[in-house]
Amino acid sequence: MVPGALFLRDSPHGAAVSRQRMSVLIRAATAADIPAITAIYDHAVSHGTASFELDPPDAAEMVRRHHALVEAGYPYLVADADGTVAGYAYAGPYRARPAYRFSVEDSVYVAPALHRCGVGRALLDRLVAEAEQRGFRQMVAVIGDSAQTPSIELHRAAGFRLIGAIEHVGFKFGRWLDTVLMQRPLGPGASTPP
Ligand SMILES: CC(C)(COP(=O)(O)OP(=O)(O)OC[C@H]1O[C@@H](n2cnc3c(N)ncnc32)[C@H](O)[C@@H]1OP(=O)(O)O)[C@@H](O)C(=O)NCCC(=O)NCCS
Repeated sequence: MVPGALFLRDSPHGAAVSRQRMSVLIRAATAADIPAITAIYDHAVSHGTASFELDPPDAAEMVRRHHALVEAGYPYLVADADGTVAGYAYAGPYRARPAYRFSVEDSVYVAPALHRCGVGRALLDRLVAEAEQRGFRQMVAVIGDSAQTPSIELHRAAGFRLIGAIEHVGFKFGRWLDTVLMQRPLGPGASTPP
C-alpha cells in the first residue's frame, strides 16, 4: 500500500482526529485486475446490502461483465495503490430501453480495510468525469438500503442529490430493504439536447 499523508481535521465535537488518506492512481481496469475486483465484490455481496445479489459471482462472470461494459463504451476504473487494487467503480446503463441511453448508473466498491481513506471519492469523481467525456447526461445511484450511510454520504459529497426511496423492494439477510435513489447531472445535463 502507498502510505498516505496523515492530516488533522475537526470532528463534529470539535476535537481534532487523525485520518489516513490514501494516495491512489485511478486508471482503467484491465483483465489482470479482475481477481482483486472479484474479491472486493465477493465481500460486499456476502456481508452487505449495497448489492442485491445473493450469491457472489466468480471471476469468469466478472470478466464477462467487465468486457460487456467496456465494449459498450462505459467507463470501468480501479484505484491502484502501488499495484494493489484498493477499489473499483464503473458506470453502466441506468435502464435498458433506448430512450435511457444518455443516463448511467454508477457502482463503487472499496476494499473493506481501506474504507474512509478517500478512495471511493477519488473513484467516483473520476467516474463522473469519464462519463461526462463520453457524452452521458445523468448519473443515477441506486443505493441498497436506507441505512447505507457511507454510500449516501459519498454520493452527496460528489454532488448527487437525494431523489427518494423505493421502500421494501429487496429482501436479504432476513429483512426488507429499500433502494435510495440519488442523481447528479453530467456536463450540461438536461439544459441542452444530447
Ligand atoms: C460507499 C463506499 C464506496 C465509500 O468509499 P470510501 O472510500 O470509504 O469513501 P471515502 O473515504 O472516499 O469518503 C468520501 C466521503 O463520503 C462520505 N462518507 C464515506 N464513508 C462515510 C461514513 N461511514 N459515514 C459518513 N460519511 C461517509 C464522507 O463525506 C467522506 O468524506 P470525508 O471522509 O472527507 O468526510 C465504501 O464504504 C464501500 O465500498 N461500501 C460498500 C459498497 C457500497 O456501499 N458501495 C456503493 C454502491 S453504489
